Amino acid sequence: MRHFLSTQSWSREELQAMIERARAYRSSPMGDALRGKSIALLFFNPSLRTRTSFDLGAYQLGGHAIVLDAKGSTWPVEMTDGVVMDGGPEEHVKEAARVLSSYVDLIAIRCFPKFENWQSEREDPLIEAYAKYATVPVINMETIVHPCQELAMMMAMQDKMGDVAGKNFLLTWVPHPKPLNTAVANSAILMASKMGMNVKVLIPDEAYQLDARYTEGARGFCEAAGASFGYTTDVKAAYEGAQMVYAKSWGALPFYGQWENEGDVRAKGAGFMIDDAKMAMTDNAYVSHCLPMRRNVKIADSVVDSDRFIGLNEAENRLHVQKAMMEALITHPENQKSA
Ligand code: CP
Repeated sequence: MRHFLSTQSWSREELQAMIERARAYRSSPMGDALRGKSIALLFFNPSLRTRTSFDLGAYQLGGHAIVLDAKGSTWPVEMTDGVVMDGGPEEHVKEAARVLSSYVDLIAIRCFPKFENWQSEREDPLIEAYAKYATVPVINMETIVHPCQELAMMMAMQDKMGDVAGKNFLLTWVPHPKPLNTAVANSAILMASKMGMNVKVLIPDEAYQLDARYTEGARGFCEAAGASFGYTTDVKAAYEGAQMVYAKSWGALPFYGQWENEGDVRAKGAGFMIDDAKMAMTDNAYVSHCLPMRRNVKIADSVVDSDRFIGLNEAENRLHVQKAMMEALITHPENQKSA
């Protein structure tokens, strides 16, 4: 069974094909790839873009979306094998995944980590359990990576920059009042590196380095493409020569679950908001963010409201790329039910 859990298990060519198909859907939105089919959208966390674009995308492809607010309108699910279920969860994922599979043709899940224990949460237990027990393809709508956002980001960048291979991508940590998920940061470096960009990650302190799975994954993609990869804490060195600036805030992994101790390293990034002075150091870079985004905390109004900001293009692209991805899963030879 081919799932869409992370772009790490999809080739550059397969991902580029989804982006090209997304461009076709942008020109001609309606299709029949999901005619007579349905998708369950399980949300354990809030959403504006993901929920709207998946529901609308299913409709535009002739299918039907069922939105389950997993925290309010469906049963809490147990994931651990062999556990005595005398706690909160009312049903096991073994039943939930197989029951949903008997109704729908795709299952999409948004489940952020709990921000308690990275060593267990980095295994992405809920979506991995669904992928193990479901008999239909499972889609990641953001867990510890955000592969749909990656596709949308790359489509927006290519629309503006053409072939991005060999171009300079800066992922910059930006301030936020609280520690956030690393998912979009992980995804940004995976996609930029997979497409052959030179990737720099600007962080306030070494503590903000991303998990080795994504750091080493991105480094490997860059090396394979003859591109460079590295972290820096030097703002000037980071921005100079950048052709794309991607903004994201995240919590420092060494302080995971003990966030009260993160304050000193977080304070080093107090001046990391993207503003005109920083953009002036770049090679006339474009700038983006996955949204939602706090203006004048992460990015200054003057940058967001400039013609270099492509975050709205990226957000629109979520609709197009997800339709292409759903079509790719539904039609994939490995996902055809045997007679
Ligand atoms: N970027 C993104 O996933 O937006 P939502 O959280 O609103 O879905």
